Amino acid sequence: MDIHTLTNLRDPFTLANGVKIPCIGYGTWQTPKGGVTRRCVKEALDAGYRHIDTAFIYGNEDEVGAGLRDAGVPREEVFVTTKHWVTERGYRKTLEAVDTSLKLLGLDYADLYLVHWPCVAKASDRWQEMNAETWRGFEEAYKAGKLRAVGVSNFQEKHIRALWETAEVRPMVNQLEFHPGYTQPETVMWMQAQGMLVEAWSPLGSGAVLKNEALAAIAAKYGKTAAQICVRYALQKGVLPLPKSTDPARMAANADVFGFSIAEEDMRAIDALPRLGFSGFLPEDAPADALAN
Ligand code: A2P
Repeated sequence: MDIHTLTNLRDPFTLANGVKIPCIGYGTWQTPKGGVTRRCVKEALDAGYRHIDTAFIYGNEDEVGAGLRDAGVPREEVFVTTKHWVTERGYRKTLEAVDTSLKLLGLDYADLYLVHWPCVAKASDRWQEMNAETWRGFEEAYKAGKLRAVGVSNFQEKHIRALWETAEVRPMVNQLEFHPGYTQPETVMWMQAQGMLVEAWSPLGSGAVLKNEALAAIAAKYGKTAAQICVRYALQKGVLPLPKSTDPARMAANADVFGFSIAEEDMRAIDALPRLGFSGFLPEDAPADALAN
């Protein structure tokens, strides 16, 4: 799609099954509990966000649900993503995990459900089978109308190819770490060429990237903040950014990225930044016990 037709954070990308997904989402990873996530989700909706991203493992699905209700935005106007955790792999457990997340969120359906991490060879000799069985649960819940779209997160090409062996419904989304200084270009381009929407977790590099001098100089040239350049950069790559902030002014500013374009030469300069702000999380390198079933 031509990203230059996007005019605000509610304008959508379209998934392979035709479902529309607002082009910037509000991320809630590491957002504190004890009422903070609830407040932030309401404030994000007040600021105009219509796409909220959470996960079972964040432990805040209940607060996300409360924030949605506080904001009073009609259900069908908000796109809610949550994610399946690695301890719930397998067909039956996956079906239960869907119900648990929906119950915590207080919703009848999720707009998008993602496999949070692939099972990998280091964790199990049966990794392909484990992912396939988990995916069968996703397909079942999708067909039952509990999930409007299904996808994965942190999958590399080999994990997707293995899943395709048995999948009836192909993953529509892959959510990856993506920000200036860590853009995984081959993986992103391959996923996009297969018709998957790539989403960016930590599109601001969890704050570290924002201090980079080269990025700050590009931002100054456009009269924008480094955070706005990060968000716009993702969009211009056709990648859906999920920025996080607990500060309402930053929430609004991070989505105010539509009145300008980053020139090709500056896109290339950002592409060429050295590795910066990488989380260190890679599915194949993660310790086996962290990813075991
Ligand atoms: P805060 O919640 O205090 O705003 P990412 O989405 O890449 O993981 O980055 C999230 C981090 O970036 C959070 O620590 C957040 O802190 C910070 N952050 C978010 N927006 C901005 C901004 N506009 N300027 C500076 N830091 C920001």
